[in-house]
Amino acid sequence: MYKILCLNKISPVGTKRFGEKYTFSPEVQEPDGILVRSASMHDMELGENLLAIARAGAGVNNIPVNQCIENGVVVFNTPGANANAVKELVIAGLLLSSRKIPAAMDWIKTLKGKGDEVGKLVEKGKSQFVGPEISGKMLGVIGLGAIGVLVANAAVNLDMEVYGYDPYISVDGAWKLSRDIHHIQDVNDIYRECDYITIHVPLLDSTKEMINADALNQMKDGVVILNFARDLLVDEKAMIDALNQGKVKRYVVDFPTPAIAKTPGAIVIPHLGASTQESEDNCARMAAEELIDYLENGNIRHSVNYPDCEMGVCQEACRIAINHR
Ligand code: MLT
Repeated sequence: MYKILCLNKISPVGTKRFGEKYTFSPEVQEPDGILVRSASMHDMELGENLLAIARAGAGVNNIPVNQCIENGVVVFNTPGANANAVKELVIAGLLLSSRKIPAAMDWIKTLKGKGDEVGKLVEKGKSQFVGPEISGKMLGVIGLGAIGVLVANAAVNLDMEVYGYDPYISVDGAWKLSRDIHHIQDVNDIYRECDYITIHVPLLDSTKEMINADALNQMKDGVVILNFARDLLVDEKAMIDALNQGKVKRYVVDFPTPAIAKTPGAIVIPHLGASTQESEDNCARMAAEELIDYLENGNIRHSVNYPDCEMGVCQEACRIAINHR
């Protein structure tokens, strides 16, 4: 019997895969595997028996990956499973940021109680909300993983001029990328040239605060920046200064903090990138299958700290898997 600890509410599309060989609950002691979405595990004791953690999502910054490396715990994520959901919200963010939609909607609320006058007031006041079309504008996509590729291709289909930067692009990613996307080799070219910049890289020591004062200073006046990846990729103080000075026209961010939420020009969304039924089902299914395949067969697919290892289904009484550091 395998014990799986579940730290978040996870779609039953995934959890029902744990059949009779499994005990699955939020209270399991000494688990063999952990299923997690966004709960932070940094202060948790990783029990002696723990073999694997599966994150229903892409980012793994809520998991102590270095400690897992030390302990031989395989950490899985679900790359691509929520990519379409995030792509759709990024496209919404592009439109919200160019057409002044949030401000216009707030203004409409001020017309409450104006009765029959509303129609006239709207026609008179709407000119303050004129905004540019995105068609023909230059979009820089930094990071061409599962989400970045979808965003870049969708933006091409919306007639944007798309510039893609990713020195670590996978062969699969490169195959999926539209040939209309300009290949950029120096991220500074994106900073210098683009009207809109969207970030789709993981949060690592090397990417932390990559959008800092230096990067912002190189950008065009009135640039729009979209961050649906992780808050700490952007130096928040530098971003607030840039918004206050008008250097950045809009910052669309899916990670609210008190400071950014009250800054004019910030469009702040409550971490909804992956919040669609479809994506929650996809992530849950993929994460559960990864855990089961590892615990029962020793197979590894989509781990962030181990290479892939596929030996098919175990047909014998048992299979021994030895993890080398
Ligand atoms: C991700 O890293 O994929 C997202 O943060 C997922 C989520 O919203 O849980």
